[in-house]
Amino acid sequence: MPQRLGIIGHPIGHSISPVFQQAALDHLGIDGTYQLWDVAPDAVEAFVQGLRERDVLGINVTVPHKEAVVPFLDEVDEWAATAGAVNTIVNRQGRLTGHNTDGVGFLRSLQDGGGFDPEGKRVLILGAGGAARGVVLALARARAGLLVIANRTAERADRLAALAEENGVSASAILLLEVARAAKSADLIVNCTSVGMSHGPDEAGSLLTANQIPSTCLVNDLVYNPLQTNLLREASNAGAAILGGIQMLVYQGAASFEMWTGQGAPVQVMLEAATAEMASRTH
Ligand code: ATR
Repeated sequence: MPQRLGIIGHPIGHSISPVFQQAALDHLGIDGTYQLWDVAPDAVEAFVQGLRERDVLGINVTVPHKEAVVPFLDEVDEWAATAGAVNTIVNRQGRLTGHNTDGVGFLRSLQDGGGFDPEGKRVLILGAGGAARGVVLALARARAGLLVIANRTAERADRLAALAEENGVSASAILLLEVARAAKSADLIVNCTSVGMSHGPDEAGSLLTANQIPSTCLVNDLVYNPLQTNLLREASNAGAAILGGIQMLVYQGAASFEMWTGQGAPVQVMLEAATAEMASRTH
């Protein structure tokens, strides 16, 4: 029986998950189709109940439904419970479990894509929104040494630093204005803001310039549209190592894929498909 998979969100037209998930299914010869489903908030419950059908392996969940799906699931794993959000639902014989692969995807992209192990390292995090929260929790799990959280709005940075401390990692909060000093001693810099994103609040922006970035650090921009952001350009000019956001996107999808299929995800195939798709969209 052909298997069904897909992603729900609202709106959802921009998602490139179908491209790289379908590439993975095809590569492994799995008889399945990964679709895009635009589901309005008032239709989420009925949609999730429908996932118990035998031909559904599972789905990804994106904005704005990551929290809304939780009450309709039979169980959520620890990552999803800690994050308070689900990005992956698995259907096993009518039983629905919720997972969150963002943290694992972020760590795998750092390790496999960036050759970077965060244990004991000093990390500068730009931003304090939902994406930054996921990154902080993942870095706490990976036993990072020290987190500095820089945000435009002080209160959100303070709250996130407190959450980091509750999760066992030393953390401090600073204003974005003070970021240059914190960058000097960073081993890893992660941009979790929407600065540099196409059609975002500051498309042409970069929160750091080349002269502020140490040549010894890794700069990871979670923005993947465009593939090459201005921050990554500045980091390259500084001689630093760079990691694009497409890596985290693909690795979180690869972790979902492995839960649905029980098979190792063909990550390189997925990365190539995702990169080609983004390149074709931006040209
Ligand atoms: P997400 O879920 O993608 O993290 P979010 O929760 O809205 O989205 O967070 C967006 C982040 O980008 C926040 O850290 C935000 O800063 P504030 O908390 O001060 O709003 C940051 N951000 C957005 N636009 C920005 C800009 N023009 N300059 C600096 N930071 C910006």
